[in-house]
Amino acid sequence: MSIDTIHDLFEHGLEDIYHAEHQLVDALEDLEGNTEREEIASAFAEHREETRQQIDRLEEVFDMFGEPPEKEECEGIEGLIEEYEQFTAEDPDQEILDYHNMAAAEKTEHYEIAAYGNLIPLADQLGMDDAADLLEENLREEQDALDELKELTEQFEMEAIPAE
Ligand SMILES: [Fe+2]
Repeated sequence: MSIDTIHDLFEHGLEDIYHAEHQLVDALEDLEGNTEREEIASAFAEHREETRQQIDRLEEVFDMFGEPPEKEECEGIEGLIEEYEQFTAEDPDQEILDYHNMAAAEKTEHYEIAAYGNLIPLADQLGMDDAADLLEENLREEQDALDELKELTEQFEMEAIPAE
């Protein structure tokens, strides 16, 4: 598809994040399963539920936009997932994995925050105020998820991990 207009730019970005959110539902399940510390695992579970709602909101946005929900392969998130799989293939100790799982999730949040932050002005420009509100809700959830993970990272007690 050639991208020549604000309409095209919005559609491209929406299809990209729609695919990303679907990938993240599965990725968050893997992260939860790969995490031993309960509060970290439950943060992943909670954000997975939010991600399902974000997909519903995106479907509403597609509806307002007058297009069926379609996915455009999101190579950004795919790359992050691949990077994560390479890390787990090294079979790290559980403590290391718990810590790294937060880092991996935080990277995806940054991607999503950038994606929503760029879609909102396009929706505004297209006069789609209700769509912009839904995208704002997704953006807020991503920001909250990132803040929570950052806090858990800062609180993480590392004494079980050798320094060298
Ligand atoms: Fe999300």
